[in-house]
Amino acid sequence: MKDVMNHAKTPDGPAIRSPEAFAGMLRKHDMDLPVEESMAELRKPLRIGGKTIPNRICIQPLEGYDSRSDGSPSDLVYRRYRRFARSGAGLVWFESAAVADDGKSNPRQMMLTPGRVSDFGSLLGEMDSICQDQFGFRQYKVLQLTHSGRVSRGTDWAPKPLAARALETDPDETVPASDERIFRLIEETISHAVMAEEAGFDAVDIKACHGYFLSEMLSAFDRKGEFGGSFENRTKALLKIVDGIRARVGDSLTLTVRLNAYDSAPYPKGWGLREDGNVLILDLTEPVKLCGILRDRGVRMIDISASQPRQHLFGTADEATEPFADARDLLMAVKEIKKQVPGVSFVCSGLSQFRQFGPAIGAGGIRDGWFDLAGFGRQALAYPEFAREALAGRIPDSDRCCVLCNSCFRLMYPGLSAAGCVVKDPDPYASFYRRNVPGKENGK
Ligand SMILES: Cc1cc2nc3c(=O)[nH]c(=O)nc-3n(C[C@H](O)[C@H](O)[C@H](O)COP(=O)(O)O)c2cc1C
Ligand code: SF4
Repeated sequence: MKDVMNHAKTPDGPAIRSPEAFAGMLRKHDMDLPVEESMAELRKPLRIGGKTIPNRICIQPLEGYDSRSDGSPSDLVYRRYRRFARSGAGLVWFESAAVADDGKSNPRQMMLTPGRVSDFGSLLGEMDSICQDQFGFRQYKVLQLTHSGRVSRGTDWAPKPLAARALETDPDETVPASDERIFRLIEETISHAVMAEEAGFDAVDIKACHGYFLSEMLSAFDRKGEFGGSFENRTKALLKIVDGIRARVGDSLTLTVRLNAYDSAPYPKGWGLREDGNVLILDLTEPVKLCGILRDRGVRMIDISASQPRQHLFGTADEATEPFADARDLLMAVKEIKKQVPGVSFVCSGLSQFRQFGPAIGAGGIRDGWFDLAGFGRQALAYPEFAREALAGRIPDSDRCCVLCNSCFRLMYPGLSAAGCVVKDPDPYASFYRRNVPGKENGK
């Protein structure tokens, strides 16, 4: 079976060719994942906040470290979003855009500024005309707003951490943000949402995942003052932003949140997980409670992720006996949250892991009520047309699928280069990789 799995995950000669065979393989491993062979569920439009998402495929936020120094779209940004417009996906969730100069994770991070709002309008307009010409619909577009918190960097790439709470392991220069700084961050995020609405985005996402500032706030259990300790205090900044945006723009902009179901560390370092002896236990009590409050405050869509979407929750998964366990954990989490929080639409994360069968799992999850939209990250960098194929009821071409090598992450994390798919979109990213990624990572 190990061989079969390896074939299914490599681009050359996959042994498992049909979703039925794939579903059979999952069953043999007692992997209870939904598979919908026709993928018809993906074609169903979804109404959100008075607008229509034309189909259920979501391209997840994928930052490229390649905006201009003022945060506006560069040629590479245009290139990426034109590719997404040609994909046929109904929802494009734009990458993280900083809400403050001291909240950029890299000097080339996307950011709206008052003089440059129309540059984003032009990009959105071009995407609309590509998509209208090719598919006859307009994509729904969300902009992710964030402060990078602990991983913020200055224009010279020097670390400029803004922590939400103190950790024992923190170096001396890491000082937790004051309450006053957090109040300012709330205002900054609200004013960036107003600019996003002017630019023509349909929705904004107040990012609360992957350990960035608002995500870290959620586990500020031992922080003193207005924003730490109790559940009410730890969620206060996020909820004030939600209320503030609603008060400024009414219903003309839809509100969404990308939220960690669980962090990579258990309570009290993280949220959504606790430790019992040496065993990590998923504990969705607080994530579920927060999702219910967000819904009641008018948030229409929640995109569920985790601190490390590719990390198996309970130790290292054995690919031979438990294939896809990491992605499965994340799908089970969104299923559980959705079950407990009706009345809001959920997006799942991590479907690239299933390569050409990701869309069939996405369609199965929608059919069985696990989530409402199927979210794909790396697959969209590697092979944006996978969406078009799946929407036509065809299994995407396995030779063109993301091979899960994570070279795109390697490009951005050292801060060396713009990020994209090195393997399936080699011009220009393979040359960036050869030039910028050092030594053995690069086979040199
Ligand atoms: C190059 C790259 C950039 C990313 N940028 C963002 C981002 O800006 N915001 C975000 O929430 N997630 C970001 N992610 C995470 C993805 O949205 C997604 O959750 C992750 O890749 C797992 O999904 P997948 O298995 O479908 O790729 C990024 C991932 C990659 C590979
Ligand atoms: S670089 Fe690797 S992991 Fe990233 S999108 Fe391309 S094939 Fe996938």
